[in-house]
Amino acid sequence: MENFEIINPVRVVFGKEQWNRLPEILKAQNAKKVMVAYGGGSVKKIGLFDTVMKEIQNDFEIVEFGGIEANPEYTKLMEAVELARKESVDFIIALGGGSVIDGVKFISGAIGYEGEPWDVLERKEGCVFESAVPFGTILTIPATGSEVNSGAVISRSEIGAKRTMGGPLFFPVFSFCDPTVVATLPKRQLANGIIDAYMHVLEQYLTVPGENLLQERQAEAILSTLIEVKGVVDNPADYDLAANFMLCASHALNGNLRCGVKTDWTTHMIGHELTAKYGIDHARTLAIVGPRLFENQFNRKKSKLAQYGERVWGLNGEADWVARKAIEKTEAFFHELEVATKLSEYTKETADFPQYVAKIFEKRDWTAMGEHQAITTKDVETILEACI
Ligand code: NZQ
Ligand code: ZN
Repeated sequence: MENFEIINPVRVVFGKEQWNRLPEILKAQNAKKVMVAYGGGSVKKIGLFDTVMKEIQNDFEIVEFGGIEANPEYTKLMEAVELARKESVDFIIALGGGSVIDGVKFISGAIGYEGEPWDVLERKEGCVFESAVPFGTILTIPATGSEVNSGAVISRSEIGAKRTMGGPLFFPVFSFCDPTVVATLPKRQLANGIIDAYMHVLEQYLTVPGENLLQERQAEAILSTLIEVKGVVDNPADYDLAANFMLCASHALNGNLRCGVKTDWTTHMIGHELTAKYGIDHARTLAIVGPRLFENQFNRKKSKLAQYGERVWGLNGEADWVARKAIEKTEAFFHELEVATKLSEYTKETADFPQYVAKIFEKRDWTAMGEHQAITTKDVETILEACI
């Protein structure tokens, strides 16, 4: 088992309609001027914005900031940074999904940063966020786990970039996780949420077998539960399905599964490039890349794939067969959720894309990825060719 260190200070308020807890929790933070940040308007349509405002508008000064895009855009977020600075905001509430929450993580760090915040995302030498305005989240879509972790992904479409950031400063102070929000989610977002969470588990699990028995079983439990609750896509108003789905998505990326294990985030790294170039939803990029990466890395991953096939899909047989069948089952699961797994089903403009990604990975020095640092940029090119 690998050595590890873990901290997760997020106060999770899980369950139905607990909004009246908000004022007390905000007061405990000494919040006075609160920015409420949200996305393209779904929170207004579903009435959640009004519900939240009713709870907080009398006790706190409110600065509203809407319009954060899916795959949050740097330019838009910088407008929020300017507004928060001008208004001397001392707390931020992210009311939305992964995009709004990630956007707020960036905003909270950029407010006090004197240089050009993009340099931090570019990881220029010496450029780091040294402070963050405290923030909490009100989750509206189970998927990314951003409500319980300290990572964020920020896009800058004018230069085709999607970059990650994070660190201990960027844990939310609190997260309200109310499964009733699932009832209003479109099918597309429900399927996305299941797949994103599923792939978060696989990328922390399909690596080296037998290292950490407890984390393996926990990963398998989340995978099996996600399969069990897939009916939420057709019955989003079923509270228990929704609650289990929400719990799975949070637990898939709250830091627990990575304890003491080797991880391989290459699918996500490649997937971000598909979103940056083609605007494909994050989860859908994972459904395209994941199965092809598992095939490409079959020899390295086969014993863990076989374990996954046996324990999650109930397959029996010779290890190589079970391992291959497990990849097929995974892809079939994505198809069952009506998610396409070929890049050509999203765009016809794929010429040179594999080479382009390989080149930019080379430039970033991402030349030895995966649990054995054995995935090369040539492999990335081959994987992407198979994705088309
Ligand atoms: O913008 P609005 O109008 O709110 O609509 C959103 C958006 O169009 C809509 N939506 C959200 N809640 C809703 C709803 N519609 C109706 N009812 C509701 N209750 O859903 C759409 C997608 O929202 P978004 O926040 O983009 O989805 P998701 O949570 O999947 O977030 C994706 C982003 O998170 C990043 C991704 O790269 C992507 O940018 N990720 C963040 C991670 C993290 N911080 O740990 C890890 C992930 O791997 C991922 O990379
Ligand atoms: Zn993801």
